[in-house]
Amino acid sequence: MSCYKFNQVRIETVQGDITTQSVDAIVNAANTSLLGGGGVDGAIHRAAGPELLAECRTLRGCVTGEAKLTRGYLLPAQYVIHAVGPIYGQDDAPDLLASAYHNSLQIAINHKLRSIAFPAISTGIYGYPINEAARISLRAVISCLHQSHTIELVRFVLFTSEALAIFNEGFAAVARNYDDITTCL
Ligand code: APR
Repeated sequence: MSCYKFNQVRIETVQGDITTQSVDAIVNAANTSLLGGGGVDGAIHRAAGPELLAECRTLRGCVTGEAKLTRGYLLPAQYVIHAVGPIYGQDDAPDLLASAYHNSLQIAINHKLRSIAFPAISTGIYGYPINEAARISLRAVISCLHQSHTIELVRFVLFTSEALAIFNEGFAAVARNYDDITTCL
Protein backbone atom coordinates (compact mmCIF):
# COMPACT_ATOMS: atom_id res chain seq x y z
CA MET A 1 0.00 0.00 0.00
CA SER A 2 1.12 3.57 -0.59
CA CYS A 3 -0.60 6.79 0.45
CA TYR A 4 -0.23 10.41 -0.63
CA LYS A 5 -1.94 13.65 0.34
CA PHE A 6 -2.68 16.25 -2.31
CA ASN A 7 -4.98 19.25 -1.86
CA GLN A 8 -6.49 17.61 1.28
CA VAL A 9 -7.24 14.45 -0.73
CA ARG A 10 -5.90 11.03 0.34
CA ILE A 11 -4.66 9.08 -2.69
CA GLU A 12 -3.90 5.47 -1.83
CA THR A 13 -3.14 2.11 -3.42
CA VAL A 14 -4.39 -1.19 -2.03
CA GLN A 15 -4.48 -4.79 -3.19
CA GLY A 16 -8.01 -6.15 -3.37
CA ASP A 17 -11.28 -6.69 -5.21
CA ILE A 18 -12.95 -3.46 -6.34
CA THR A 19 -16.42 -5.01 -5.95
CA THR A 20 -15.99 -5.11 -2.16
CA GLN A 21 -14.91 -1.49 -1.73
CA SER A 22 -17.12 0.60 0.56
CA VAL A 23 -16.73 3.91 -1.22
CA ASP A 24 -19.25 6.29 -2.79
CA ALA A 25 -18.36 5.13 -6.30
CA ILE A 26 -16.28 2.39 -7.88
CA VAL A 27 -15.02 2.79 -11.43
CA ASN A 28 -15.62 0.00 -13.94
CA ALA A 29 -13.13 -0.71 -16.74
CA ALA A 30 -15.91 -1.06 -19.29
CA ASN A 31 -16.12 -1.32 -23.08
CA THR A 32 -17.94 1.03 -25.43
CA SER A 33 -21.14 -1.06 -25.36
CA LEU A 34 -21.46 -0.75 -21.56
CA LEU A 35 -23.15 -4.15 -21.73
CA GLY A 36 -20.63 -6.05 -19.58
CA GLY A 37 -17.66 -8.23 -20.38
CA GLY A 38 -14.87 -10.09 -18.63
CA GLY A 39 -12.30 -8.92 -16.11
CA VAL A 40 -13.36 -6.22 -13.68
CA ASP A 41 -16.43 -5.45 -15.85
CA GLY A 42 -17.68 -8.98 -15.39
CA ALA A 43 -16.92 -8.97 -11.67
CA ILE A 44 -18.80 -5.71 -11.10
CA HIS A 45 -21.86 -6.87 -13.05
CA ARG A 46 -21.92 -10.19 -11.18
CA ALA A 47 -21.68 -8.46 -7.80
CA ALA A 48 -24.14 -5.67 -8.62
CA GLY A 49 -26.82 -7.96 -9.98
CA PRO A 50 -28.97 -7.79 -13.13
CA GLU A 51 -30.37 -4.33 -12.44
CA LEU A 52 -26.96 -2.86 -13.32
CA LEU A 53 -27.13 -4.23 -16.85
CA ALA A 54 -30.71 -3.05 -17.15
CA GLU A 55 -29.64 0.52 -16.34
CA CYS A 56 -26.57 0.25 -18.59
CA ARG A 57 -28.85 -0.65 -21.49
CA THR A 58 -30.48 2.79 -21.15
CA LEU A 59 -27.14 4.59 -21.53
CA ARG A 60 -26.63 3.77 -25.22
CA GLY A 61 -22.92 3.04 -24.90
CA CYS A 62 -19.91 5.23 -24.13
CA VAL A 63 -17.00 6.38 -26.31
CA THR A 64 -13.41 5.58 -25.36
CA GLY A 65 -12.00 8.06 -22.86
CA GLU A 66 -15.45 8.96 -21.53
CA ALA A 67 -17.40 7.70 -18.50
CA LYS A 68 -21.04 7.34 -17.41
CA LEU A 69 -22.70 6.94 -14.00
CA THR A 70 -25.13 4.32 -12.78
CA ARG A 71 -26.35 3.19 -9.40
CA GLY A 72 -24.42 0.40 -7.62
CA TYR A 73 -27.41 -1.82 -6.77
CA LEU A 74 -26.15 -4.83 -4.73
CA LEU A 75 -22.59 -3.44 -4.48
CA PRO A 76 -21.37 -1.77 -1.27
CA ALA A 77 -20.65 1.29 -3.43
CA GLN A 78 -23.61 3.61 -4.04
CA TYR A 79 -22.58 4.27 -7.65
CA VAL A 80 -20.62 2.73 -10.52
CA ILE A 81 -18.79 5.02 -12.91
CA HIS A 82 -18.33 3.10 -16.16
CA ALA A 83 -15.14 4.34 -17.84
CA VAL A 84 -13.90 3.13 -21.22
CA GLY A 85 -10.13 2.98 -21.46
CA PRO A 86 -8.16 2.63 -24.70
CA ILE A 87 -6.70 -0.54 -26.14
CA TYR A 88 -2.92 -0.26 -25.88
CA GLY A 89 -1.42 0.90 -29.17
CA GLN A 90 -4.54 2.62 -30.52
CA ASP A 91 -4.14 6.26 -31.55
CA ASP A 92 -3.92 8.69 -28.63
CA ALA A 93 -4.00 5.82 -26.13
CA PRO A 94 -2.13 7.77 -23.40
CA ASP A 95 -4.47 10.78 -23.69
CA LEU A 96 -7.54 8.54 -23.82
CA LEU A 97 -6.42 6.68 -20.70
CA ALA A 98 -5.87 9.97 -18.87
CA SER A 99 -9.31 11.15 -20.05
CA ALA A 100 -10.97 8.03 -18.70
CA TYR A 101 -9.61 8.83 -15.22
CA HIS A 102 -10.24 12.55 -15.58
CA ASN A 103 -13.85 12.14 -16.76
CA SER A 104 -14.57 9.58 -14.03
CA LEU A 105 -13.33 12.02 -11.37
CA GLN A 106 -15.27 14.87 -12.97
CA ILE A 107 -18.49 12.83 -12.61
CA ALA A 108 -17.63 12.19 -8.94
CA ILE A 109 -16.94 15.91 -8.37
CA ASN A 110 -20.15 16.94 -10.14
CA HIS A 111 -22.14 14.57 -7.91
CA LYS A 112 -20.30 15.80 -4.80
CA LEU A 113 -19.03 12.29 -4.00
CA ARG A 114 -16.40 12.00 -1.29
CA SER A 115 -14.69 8.72 -2.15
CA ILE A 116 -13.91 6.85 -5.36
CA ALA A 117 -12.06 3.63 -6.15
CA PHE A 118 -10.36 2.91 -9.48
CA PRO A 119 -9.13 -0.36 -10.97
CA ALA A 120 -6.06 -0.25 -13.21
CA ILE A 121 -8.04 0.70 -16.31
CA SER A 122 -6.85 -0.84 -19.63
CA THR A 123 -4.08 -2.94 -18.02
CA GLY A 124 -5.86 -6.28 -18.46
CA ILE A 125 -7.62 -7.34 -21.66
CA TYR A 126 -6.78 -3.98 -23.26
CA GLY A 127 -3.06 -4.68 -22.79
CA TYR A 128 -1.79 -1.38 -21.40
CA PRO A 129 1.61 -1.86 -19.71
CA ILE A 130 0.83 -1.36 -16.06
CA ASN A 131 3.98 0.65 -15.27
CA GLU A 132 3.03 3.23 -17.94
CA ALA A 133 -0.63 3.20 -16.88
CA ALA A 134 0.29 3.87 -13.24
CA ARG A 135 2.10 7.11 -14.13
CA ILE A 136 -0.67 8.29 -16.46
CA SER A 137 -3.40 7.56 -13.91
CA LEU A 138 -1.80 9.42 -11.00
CA ARG A 139 -0.99 12.45 -13.17
CA ALA A 140 -4.59 12.50 -14.47
CA VAL A 141 -6.02 12.27 -10.95
CA ILE A 142 -3.77 15.04 -9.64
CA SER A 143 -4.66 17.32 -12.55
CA CYS A 144 -8.34 16.93 -11.67
CA LEU A 145 -8.10 17.38 -7.91
CA HIS A 146 -7.16 21.07 -8.11
CA GLN A 147 -10.84 21.84 -8.71
CA SER A 148 -12.34 19.50 -6.11
CA HIS A 149 -13.64 20.63 -2.71
CA THR A 150 -15.56 17.45 -1.90
CA ILE A 151 -13.39 14.49 -2.84
CA GLU A 152 -11.64 13.13 0.25
CA LEU A 153 -10.35 9.73 -0.94
CA VAL A 154 -9.12 8.33 -4.25
CA ARG A 155 -8.26 4.64 -3.92
CA PHE A 156 -6.54 2.55 -6.59
CA VAL A 157 -7.48 -1.11 -6.11
CA LEU A 158 -4.92 -3.46 -7.64
CA PHE A 159 -5.95 -7.08 -8.13
CA THR A 160 -2.50 -8.66 -7.62
CA SER A 161 0.52 -7.98 -5.41
CA GLU A 162 2.61 -7.57 -8.56
CA ALA A 163 0.27 -4.87 -9.90
CA LEU A 164 0.29 -3.15 -6.50
CA ALA A 165 4.10 -3.09 -6.41
CA ILE A 166 4.28 -1.65 -9.94
CA PHE A 167 1.68 1.02 -9.12
CA ASN A 168 3.50 1.96 -5.92
CA GLU A 169 6.76 2.33 -7.85
CA GLY A 170 5.12 4.42 -10.56
CA PHE A 171 3.36 6.65 -8.03
CA ALA A 172 6.61 7.27 -6.14
CA ALA A 173 8.28 8.33 -9.41
CA VAL A 174 5.43 10.74 -10.28
CA ALA A 175 5.06 12.10 -6.74
CA ARG A 176 8.69 13.22 -6.77
CA ASN A 177 7.74 15.74 -9.48
CA TYR A 178 5.14 17.52 -7.30
CA ASP A 179 6.16 19.80 -4.42
CA ASP A 180 2.63 19.77 -2.97
CA ILE A 181 2.29 16.01 -2.63
CA THR A 182 3.21 14.48 0.73
CA THR A 183 3.18 10.88 1.91
CA CYS A 184 0.58 10.02 4.56
CA LEU A 185 1.66 6.63 5.87
N1 APR B 1 -10.95 -5.82 -8.73
C1 APR B 1 -9.92 -5.00 -9.08
N2 APR B 1 -9.22 -5.14 -10.21
C2 APR B 1 -9.55 -6.17 -11.03
C3 APR B 1 -10.61 -7.07 -10.74
C4 APR B 1 -11.31 -6.86 -9.53
N3 APR B 1 -12.33 -7.64 -9.15
N4 APR B 1 -10.69 -7.97 -11.77
C5 APR B 1 -9.71 -7.65 -12.64
N5 APR B 1 -9.02 -6.58 -12.20
C6 APR B 1 -7.89 -5.88 -12.82
C7 APR B 1 -7.08 -6.63 -13.83
O1 APR B 1 -6.12 -7.46 -13.20
C8 APR B 1 -6.43 -5.46 -14.58
O2 APR B 1 -5.28 -5.03 -13.87
O3 APR B 1 -8.43 -4.78 -13.53
C9 APR B 1 -7.49 -4.34 -14.49
C10 APR B 1 -8.22 -4.07 -15.80
O4 APR B 1 -8.38 -5.29 -16.48
P1 APR B 1 -9.71 -5.63 -17.34
O5 APR B 1 -10.83 -5.88 -16.44
O6 APR B 1 -9.33 -6.67 -18.32
O7 APR B 1 -10.04 -4.26 -18.10
P2 APR B 1 -9.34 -3.57 -19.34
O8 APR B 1 -7.94 -3.99 -19.53
O9 APR B 1 -9.67 -2.12 -19.17
O10 APR B 1 -10.15 -4.16 -20.58
C11 APR B 1 -11.51 -3.77 -20.72
O11 APR B 1 -12.22 -6.02 -20.76
O12 APR B 1 -13.67 -6.92 -19.27
C12 APR B 1 -13.58 -6.39 -20.53
O13 APR B 1 -15.73 -5.42 -20.93
C13 APR B 1 -14.37 -5.14 -20.66
O14 APR B 1 -14.06 -5.05 -23.02
C14 APR B 1 -13.65 -4.48 -21.80
C15 APR B 1 -12.20 -4.83 -21.54
